[in-house]
Amino acid sequence: NPRHTATLAISLLAIAQGAAASSELRETALDIFSPLPSTMPSLNDNRITPEKIDLGKALFFDPRMSASGVFSCNSCHNLATGGDDNMPVSIGHGWQKGPRNSPTVLNAVFNEAQFWDGRAPDLAEQAKGPVQAGVEMANTPANVLLTLNSMPQYVEWFQASFPEEDDPVSFDNFAKAIEAYEATLITPSPFDAWLNGDDGAMTEQEVRGLQTFVDAGCASCHSGINLGGNGYYPFGLVERPGADILPEGDKGRYMVTETVDDEYVFRAAPLRNIALTAPYFHSGVVWDLRTAVEIMASSQLGADLSEDEVTDITAFLGALTGEMPEVVYPILPVETADTPKPTG
Ligand code: HEM
Ligand code: HEM
Repeated sequence: NPRHTATLAISLLAIAQGAAASSELRETALDIFSPLPSTMPSLNDNRITPEKIDLGKALFFDPRMSASGVFSCNSCHNLATGGDDNMPVSIGHGWQKGPRNSPTVLNAVFNEAQFWDGRAPDLAEQAKGPVQAGVEMANTPANVLLTLNSMPQYVEWFQASFPEEDDPVSFDNFAKAIEAYEATLITPSPFDAWLNGDDGAMTEQEVRGLQTFVDAGCASCHSGINLGGNGYYPFGLVERPGADILPEGDKGRYMVTETVDDEYVFRAAPLRNIALTAPYFHSGVVWDLRTAVEIMASSQLGADLSEDEVTDITAFLGALTGEMPEVVYPILPVETADTPKPTG
């Protein structure tokens, strides 16, 4: 039947055109973004071994690394809820509120610098911060070492993780083990599968959203493996958001560089798993991802996106939700009479 043949030809043509368009978009996308690597990244001066990963995991989940014995890394970077705490700003030692929203630790190993203002160059440097921060874990390196040395099981684990060292239980190695564990927290997403050539991995709407994300200019700041985490920009480049969203007291990178040009400059936030990590922005005041997209469009691009464009971009951001690492809750070493008691 010629009519059927014609219909078939037309649908095949449409499919072919669709495939051509998506392969063109894929080429563009591969210039801007990178899929997650299929193997674990290598770390600067920190060889990853199974022993080190297991030790780092124990430390990540151990609340005794905080002065109060209440807070572990997982308190604010909960691996059951997207690697963050789903609070506007974190609550730490003595029920204090910190100044900023907790970013996810998932895929953080691919950020070129850590924190909203990028003040830590890597995860090992970063891990030393929260332990000592008064509003987070309020501990001291000396007390962490007393705690670790008081439990023979920890001492054994440090020896097995740093076999070539005479004095393996150190604050540096504490941080390196955590870094090694964090390097395993990687979440391959539909977007990665799509970048790697699987046309069916994203829905038509998500693909349209990616196209809009690129065309509108979002990708000029949110690029690379983590769609962000690799550059600094004024929050409010085109139009300054209100003080509720961009509180005046937090001047971002200015606090790091003390350069006037860096006032209210922040790291372009990494966007993997963004659908899981509300509320948004360093102030953590925006609960709805669509609204966050609208704020970005006006504050960073001065763009007036249509409802459909915002919906499509938001759908695309959903395709960045990855497969969560399987986490078996670690059983931690038991304390001894020498273990420092919780304080505060
Ligand atoms: C930032 C890991 C403990 C709250 C970060 C980042 C990492 C991380 C990797 C940077 C992520 C990024 O920039 O994208 C850890 C580890 C911890 C720990 C390994 C345990 C040693 C905590 C605790 C809290 C907390 C207990 C809450 C009381 C925060 C906040 C930030 C942050 C608010 C953002 C700070 C800023 O940008 O100035 N953490 N964290 N973290 N973490 Fe933690
Ligand atoms: C933060 C999306 C354009 C720079 C964010 C966040 C989202 C987002 C969802 C919140 C991340 C979080 O809370 O974890 C978008 C979209 C864009 C866009 C959809 C296009 C419509 C841009 C552009 C720039 C930029 C063009 C640079 C000029 C930043 C910065 C932050 C951020 C610096 C962190 C803001 C803060 O300190 O809270 N973006 N973005 N974004 N974006 Fe964009």
